[in-house]
Amino acid sequence: MSLGFQRASVTAVAALALLVAGSAFGTRATSAASKDAPAMHGKMTATGKATAGSSGPVSYSAAQAAAGSKAYGASCASCHGEKLEGGVGPALSGATLNTLAKNTHLTVGDMFTFMSQQMPLNAPASLPKDQYAAIMAYVLKFNGYPAGSKALTYAAATGSKVVMKSN
Ligand code: HEC
Repeated sequence: MSLGFQRASVTAVAALALLVAGSAFGTRATSAASKDAPAMHGKMTATGKATAGSSGPVSYSAAQAAAGSKAYGASCASCHGEKLEGGVGPALSGATLNTLAKNTHLTVGDMFTFMSQQMPLNAPASLPKDQYAAIMAYVLKFNGYPAGSKALTYAAATGSKVVMKSN
């Protein structure tokens, strides 16, 4: 079996787990050490209805996104791809993200809560808060959200009801 094949299988399994939205995710979250960390999809299946999203602006600065690009490259790209195209971990951009986001009514807050508490997979919640916020700014920039003058804070990202999608 080639490495390439293994990698593809893992991606497929991860993608499937995500699409099933809840089961695999929920199990993982409850069995993981961080019980207080709500799984991105677990939360949504638990409430039974999606957080009503708004398409309002989400503020981050261009400088912050640039810093986030570096932090992403160091801590996330190995699994999610240099261009957020996915690898061992799911794509954080494009059609994959849109399908997941649509199916789960994903908000920026949902994604941020998940990434800041469960990622990097091999060292959850290990980065400084401002680095998580910067990485979120980079993910937003990459997906076509315009930069503003105010940097994205950890708290604002956590509470954001802005709909997540790849523009
Ligand atoms: C060692 C590999 C690995 C690293 C490093 C990693 N991830 Fe992940 N990530 C995954 C896998 C695998 C999943 C699929 C969910 C699961 O199984 O928990 C995932 C899921 C996610 C999700 C949910 C995606 C979705 O579409 O549902 C986000 C967001 C995310 N990761 C962000 C990050 C960020 C940001 C970093 C860097 C701080 C990071 N990941 C680092 C492997 C990794």
